[in-house]
Amino acid sequence: MADRFPPHIDMDTPSIARMYDYLLGGKDNFASDRKACEELAAGIPELVSFANDNRAFLGRAVEHVSARGIDQFLDLGAGLPTTDNTHQVAQRANPRARVLYIDHDPIVLAHGRALLGDTDTTAFLLSDIRDTERILRSPEAVKLIDPDQPVCVMMVSLLHCLPDDSDPFGMVRDLVERLAPGSAIIFSHIVSDDPEAAAWMTDKILSFGTPWGRVRSPQEASAVFEGLEVASAWTDGREQEPRKVDCSTWRNPDRDPITRPTDPGVKRWELAGVAFKP
Ligand SMILES: C[S@@+](CC[C@H](N)C(=O)[O-])C[C@H]1O[C@@H](n2cnc3c(N)ncnc32)[C@H](O)[C@@H]1O
Repeated sequence: MADRFPPHIDMDTPSIARMYDYLLGGKDNFASDRKACEELAAGIPELVSFANDNRAFLGRAVEHVSARGIDQFLDLGAGLPTTDNTHQVAQRANPRARVLYIDHDPIVLAHGRALLGDTDTTAFLLSDIRDTERILRSPEAVKLIDPDQPVCVMMVSLLHCLPDDSDPFGMVRDLVERLAPGSAIIFSHIVSDDPEAAAWMTDKILSFGTPWGRVRSPQEASAVFEGLEVASAWTDGREQEPRKVDCSTWRNPDRDPITRPTDPGVKRWELAGVAFKP
């Protein structure tokens, strides 16, 4: 088996991209990823629905942003291809929509290119998302993204992967500052209002040797929306709170938006929202 994989793919240390793939029912993961997920699920029984709810939020959010006329997407921390990838959702609304997928995990690049290919409208870039300058100057970005037009920057289930010393929220502020007015962000982040539950998940993932950040509080994660117009989380678009919500309830036709899961036993969730640059 081992010689089928390029040497830069470390099969022994769990990777966030492959663990997430496993939770979504994918096949592009190794024993180390599956074991890590089982260990996490022992303390977080809702882990599988957690991942699936987040992925479903991504689809609804891309649909919403596309309906608002945005046709270019930077999908940061894109993850392994699954069903309804960003370009498939966006191109249902507008066949000319362009998507640049970015991830630092080589397995994402390998599978992404093999399955979806680089085309006139989509490309994959292997990069750390903190390398903003390199991403924006890459031939792929120059080809697909017109910086003078609104862009949607996607950070879905991503910034909790980055530790505080990388200043992930400062990085987003700098990036958004460079975008044209009318640009959007699609955002979700694992949060908890219980410091012990937050620390348990953070410590568990770091114990795998996997680079990660931390579970943050809802207030900390909400910093990403500062200075932006946060879109309605209601399916009918009513101008009513809440707007930064449990991802499973963001513009979900079957649920009213709520800020946290109603079951007090569920102590972690993905805080989600979509916002536009004035
Ligand atoms: C939980 S997955 C989310 C995938 C996708 N955004 C979604 O929500 O369906 C997080 C992804 O972010 C990627 N990632 C984590 N840290 C990163 C970094 N510093 N630069 C680029 N990608 C990163 C991981 O490799 C992984 O594929």
